[in-house]
Amino acid sequence: MRHLMSPLDFSVEELDRLFDLANDIEHNMSKYAHACDGRKLATCFYEPSTRTRLSFEAAMLNLGGSVIGFSDAGSSSAAKGESVSDTIRVISCFADICAMRHPKEGAPMVAASRSTIPVINAGDGGHQHPTQTLTDLLTIRSLNGSIDNFTIGLCGDLKFGRTVHSLINALVRYPNIRFIFISPEELKVPDYITDMLKEQNIPYEEVIRLEEIMPRLDFLYMTRVQKERFFNEEDYVRLKDFYILNKEKMKLAKQNMLILHPLPRVNEISVEVDDDPRAAYFKQVQYGVYVRMALILTLLEITV
Ligand code: NCD
Repeated sequence: MRHLMSPLDFSVEELDRLFDLANDIEHNMSKYAHACDGRKLATCFYEPSTRTRLSFEAAMLNLGGSVIGFSDAGSSSAAKGESVSDTIRVISCFADICAMRHPKEGAPMVAASRSTIPVINAGDGGHQHPTQTLTDLLTIRSLNGSIDNFTIGLCGDLKFGRTVHSLINALVRYPNIRFIFISPEELKVPDYITDMLKEQNIPYEEVIRLEEIMPRLDFLYMTRVQKERFFNEEDYVRLKDFYILNKEKMKLAKQNMLILHPLPRVNEISVEVDDDPRAAYFKQVQYGVYVRMALILTLLEITV
């Protein structure tokens, strides 16, 4: 039985097969409509979510399966003091597969070690968010044709942003990707990530101003300042509007640069940018459903 804790749990070849399946789902949705008849997905969300939880639920419903779960730790037995290990043993009696989001780093991994059903990490604290990374990679592959030979700028909260950490981890396995990290000093990408890049001789730059590197980017991955991970409100207020991508700044970008964002957006992309053909963040949400459908089928070992 397989779980998904980190994007590295799948080899590059396995990811290719997963993305091929996701693209087939995209173009032949009805073929998959009964693939999960009689199967149940449990969504155990101890932290807020809109996209991740609902796209998991939509994915399972699109496959003909059904969904149970909770969307708030306060309405689960966690509020009574139940451990994640006990909860997953209980959930294993009710469902065939589980997507879990938790504010504590590593909690889904603890669950996976106790589970008799596949567990998917749907975000653990500021650590990893592998299914967002699958979404990001599928979006890049589908819109760009391949995952290689590009310069990607990751901008915003690179310290607490788990989607950034997972995406960098995943992209280092593809050829000729150049990273530019754009953040204020306080929100720089953690050392364990830059150490890993240095070890693998992967080029990266760290800058503060978005404008100065904009013309070089093929992808711009914007992120929200992660309010819930700050220790004090003052720092958050000072940093929250550090970057605002607007029409003016988009004039500096390549004609075919693509903007990605895991969403939710707060102020970091002005709504006037949404109509720019380079804005790909709502398409990205759609790819998130296809890739989660492909992931559920793969972990349940269902072939259509
Ligand atoms: C992200 C997350 O939860 O880490 N959201 C998502 O799942 N698409 C990004 C964020 O909350 O900023």
